[in-house]
Amino acid sequence: MRMILMGPPGAGKGTQAPAIKEKYSCCHLATGDMLRAQVAAKTELGRQAKKIMDQGGLVSDDIMINMIKSELDNNRECKNGFILDGFPRTVPQAAKLDEMLASKSQPLRHAVELQINDDLLVARITGRLVHPASGRSYHKIFNAPKKEMTDDVTGEPLIQRSDDNEEALKKRLVTYHKQTAPVSDYYRKTGIWTGIDASKEPGAVWKDLLGVFGSEK
Ligand code: AP5
Ligand code: ZN
Repeated sequence: MRMILMGPPGAGKGTQAPAIKEKYSCCHLATGDMLRAQVAAKTELGRQAKKIMDQGGLVSDDIMINMIKSELDNNRECKNGFILDGFPRTVPQAAKLDEMLASKSQPLRHAVELQINDDLLVARITGRLVHPASGRSYHKIFNAPKKEMTDDVTGEPLIQRSDDNEEALKKRLVTYHKQTAPVSDYYRKTGIWTGIDASKEPGAVWKDLLGVFGSEK
């Protein structure tokens, strides 16, 4: 499996990706999770990234490209393929990814876009709870954890992301439509793009994803 999973904040990228990872034994590289790990580790990059993320902006292309390159080159889980979640987010990132994968003779197989109307995203984002260490996400109403504010797998506490409020979401959506929507056009011109209705419930979205992958190994 070699794919990118696109879609606006709250579309369900982080919800669907773990199941794809499990089915295809590939790695799940979520650039937002990687940046949040830097924030938690209090690195200089984390300090700069937190400001940008809380304002709904984008971290520089060079930093993000190097981050993904290093994972694709060194992460052993990626030997069997990858799901990129949150990358590429700009056309220069997409072009650089193509270049990187061409040099490995491992072109992308799927560019899947989770499509959903902005109106539905406020409720999803403001109700989200996450387990920071794994990136697992829940929802207070739509996907409640078994025990309140507790991760089902580890029993550790769940938190709200600092960019998960209505004000930051508005800015993230503006950034998405301006800078990431052109990435959709970039892939639509290739034969690997598929759009999926992400307003359906998670199980139905998963079924539609499986339909896209077909007999993919
Ligand atoms: P990132 O972490 O990638 O955030 P995002 O793109 O805004 O996406 P989200 O994680 O908010 O949404 P998701 O689609 O994963 O939703 P989820 O499945 O959790 O990036 C954060 C920031 O990092 C960016 O703003 C930027 O600053 C920076 N950054 C990252 N990558 C970058 C890059 N490449 N270049 C530059 N900067 C970069 O679902 C959301 C909620 O809805 C959950 O509560 C879930 O339970 C619920 N839900 C999911 N599916 C359904 C459903 N079908 N029905 C009902 N509820 C559902
Ligand atoms: Zn996510």
